[in-house]
Amino acid sequence: MQKTSDLIWQDTQHQVLFELIDQIKQVPFDPEILDRLKLYAEHHFILEETYMRELSYPHTDSHIEAHNRFRVELAAMIDTDPSMHHSLQVSLSDFLYKWLKLHVLGIDKQLEDFILNSSSK
Ligand SMILES: [Fe+2]
Ligand SMILES: [Fe+2]
Repeated sequence: MQKTSDLIWQDTQHQVLFELIDQIKQVPFDPEILDRLKLYAEHHFILEETYMRELSYPHTDSHIEAHNRFRVELAAMIDTDPSMHHSLQVSLSDFLYKWLKLHVLGIDKQLEDFILNSSSK
């Protein structure tokens, strides 16, 4: 994935998320990959949400709602049969990839600008 942010921590974490999402397509399916993605996504979302709260970011609620939608989608996927067909692996991976790309190039960029213009980077 192209660079997503001038904040090193944010870009690094996005790159890891894209790599984990890509690994969902791997054959054979790694039964732990969705749990690893969930843990890492949670780590990333909580860090962004902490910045938003600490800096009184004006779009905190809508950004957290977007994170929550991803949390719900991922939880539903974790409930699916891990011995899934490859076509399902590909569609889950593509769905999450597109969601994340829209998110990081959309509302995450607004947050990045806000943090970069604040005193605490
Ligand atoms: Fe992000
Ligand atoms: Fe975000």
